[in-house]
Amino acid sequence: MITAAALCALGLTSAVLASPTPDLSPTQYVDPPPGPAGGLGLDEIPQYVFYSDFDFQSLNLALNQEWIELDLFHHGLAMFSDEEFDEAGIDAEQRYLLQFMAEQEVGHATLIQTMLQGKGAKQCNYTYPFETVREFLDFSQKLTRWGEAGVYGFLEHLDSRAAAEMLLQSITTEARQQMIFRQMEGLFPMPIHFTTGLPQAMTWTLLSPYLVTCPAENPYIEFQIFPYLNITNNPDATPLVNGSTGNDTSAAISHNRTEPLSAPGREVYFSWDVPGQNVSYNSSYVTNSTAGEPKFAAWISQLNVTYTELADVNLTARTAMTVQPGGSIFNDTNPFGQDPFSVVNGTQFIVLTDTDLFVTPFNTSQMLPHVVAGPAVYQSG
Ligand SMILES: *[C@@H]1O[C@H](CO)[C@@H](O)[C@H](O)[C@H]1NC(C)=O
Ligand SMILES: *[C@@H]1O[C@H](CO)[C@@H](O)[C@H](O)[C@H]1NC(C)=O
Ligand SMILES: *[C@@H]1O[C@H](CO)[C@@H](O)[C@H](O)[C@H]1NC(C)=O
Ligand SMILES: *[C@@H]1O[C@H](CO)[C@@H](O)[C@H](O)[C@H]1NC(C)=O
Ligand SMILES: *[C@@H]1O[C@H](CO)[C@@H](O)[C@H](O)[C@H]1NC(C)=O
Ligand SMILES: *[C@@H]1O[C@H](CO)[C@@H](O)[C@H](O)[C@H]1NC(C)=O
Ligand SMILES: *[C@@H]1O[C@H](CO)[C@@H](O)[C@H](O)[C@H]1NC(C)=O
Ligand SMILES: *[C@@H]1O[C@H](CO)[C@@H](O)[C@H](O)[C@H]1NC(C)=O
Ligand SMILES: *[C@@H]1O[C@H](CO)[C@@H](O)[C@H](O)[C@H]1NC(C)=O
Ligand SMILES: *[C@@H]1O[C@H](CO)[C@@H](O)[C@H](O)[C@H]1NC(C)=O
Ligand SMILES: *[C@@H]1O[C@H](CO)[C@@H](O)[C@H](O)[C@H]1NC(C)=O
Ligand SMILES: *[C@@H]1O[C@H](CO)[C@@H](O)[C@H](O)[C@H]1NC(C)=O
Repeated sequence: MITAAALCALGLTSAVLASPTPDLSPTQYVDPPPGPAGGLGLDEIPQYVFYSDFDFQSLNLALNQEWIELDLFHHGLAMFSDEEFDEAGIDAEQRYLLQFMAEQEVGHATLIQTMLQGKGAKQCNYTYPFETVREFLDFSQKLTRWGEAGVYGFLEHLDSRAAAEMLLQSITTEARQQMIFRQMEGLFPMPIHFTTGLPQAMTWTLLSPYLVTCPAENPYIEFQIFPYLNITNNPDATPLVNGSTGNDTSAAISHNRTEPLSAPGREVYFSWDVPGQNVSYNSSYVTNSTAGEPKFAAWISQLNVTYTELADVNLTARTAMTVQPGGSIFNDTNPFGQDPFSVVNGTQFIVLTDTDLFVTPFNTSQMLPHVVAGPAVYQSG
């Protein structure tokens, strides 16, 4: 329920939210501010609402993501004892940080529900794949990674620039949560120069298996769910490993891992589902792919989509393998110096495709007709 107090706390005036549908007529325009020519929306009276089906569906998907985060952080805090958290190196003050992150989700969900004018999804019941504190931290750093990437993938495509501004201000907070979860797991906090984005269908594919039941009135999510992809030898960051300099993987602001989780040249194995499976909450959705046979693994990381060829493709067992690529974001002759590490690093994504279509961050959605399965989260560093 959106209260007047919540709106007030968000700084949303009643004038902005009064009309059920935004009035986009030219009378909305005011004098532009003094300064250089150009810029978008500087002479608009902003309306923090969806303008199109694309906006509604994108914001509603983000709202579903905020709801699971709220539930997940509470669930993790309730599931484990103080002793279990202490053993994983998460003390009382860090547990309060987890609690605070849950409260941030209330703010984010309220904001998006307001921009959806109360027509967005309500909270669901969820299932989680963890049994230990470190598995909880690992799942949380992965879930917040696709939550973050999921918004970056559509933010700049929204029709409502005003709504995009507010959503940006929530997703930058979520980005901090993601890094904190990596630190709590003892991973290097941000082994990347750029944070990748994902089209909505890929985000929804990643999120969909964790929603078990949802209220009947929740808006149907119109993005595709691809067949699920499993990386059967995904590097596992959850074990506590003692390195030569002591605990290598316990909670810390930053760790140089003695043993890297993975490196270029590593063989990576996949299995995937057939399309046409009933999935997600109340089995309300059916997985689908319009692609041909799988030929490539697409590594979606930083500014790049890097393709590697699939080998040992078995269409009966639906299994294949590929090799983790090296390669930097910028090449050796870049005058500003090379990115010293591989473009594939951190918590990132892999999909299987039928072609190696060249895409860049603003048109990653061009890949969607070519996705055979996935994405899966690859834990490379
Ligand atoms: C390693 O981490 C565990 C769990 O946090 C802790 O019990 C142990 O004392 C640590 N050992 C060292 C050498 O830091
Ligand atoms: C969630 O589960 C609870 C307990 O089983 C149930 O009472 C509730 O109706 C469920 N809610 C939804 C939205 O499915
Ligand atoms: C899903 O199942 C729950 C529990 O049976 C029910 O309350 C809810 O209305 C169902 N939702 C949908 C979308 O069918
Ligand atoms: C993925 O593959 C691994 C290794 O075969 C298996 O243990 C795991 O259960 C699979 N996960 C899913 C979601 O199918
Ligand atoms: C790591 O080393 C500490 C101190 O030597 C020890 O107490 C702990 O059990 C070790 N942990 C593992 C996972 O080997
Ligand atoms: C951490 O790793 C970087 C990059 O490999 C290396 O230059 C640095 O010396 C390492 N620092 C420590 C304290 O291990
Ligand atoms: C996938 O979608 C296409 C296009 O809408 C449709 O023709 C096909 O039947 C669907 N396949 C499955 C398995 O649902
Ligand atoms: C999916 O659900 C529909 C409707 O309930 C059912 O007819 C169909 O057999 C289900 N498909 C699968 C693969 O379970
Ligand atoms: C492909 O998988 C099927 C089913 O698991 C198996 O029977 C067949 O031997 C595999 N083909 C190859 C070439 O390995
Ligand atoms: C990453 O993208 C940049 C910019 O498009 C390109 O120059 C570079 O070759 C790509 N690197 C890899 C490893 O794909
Ligand atoms: C390498 O980067 C420089 C500077 O960005 C660019 O001019 C050059 O074309 C790039 N070379 C290759 C082979 O991509
Ligand atoms: C990933 O980043 C970490 C931390 O900066 C670095 O130590 C590691 O070598 C990088 N891995 C690859 C494959 O570049």
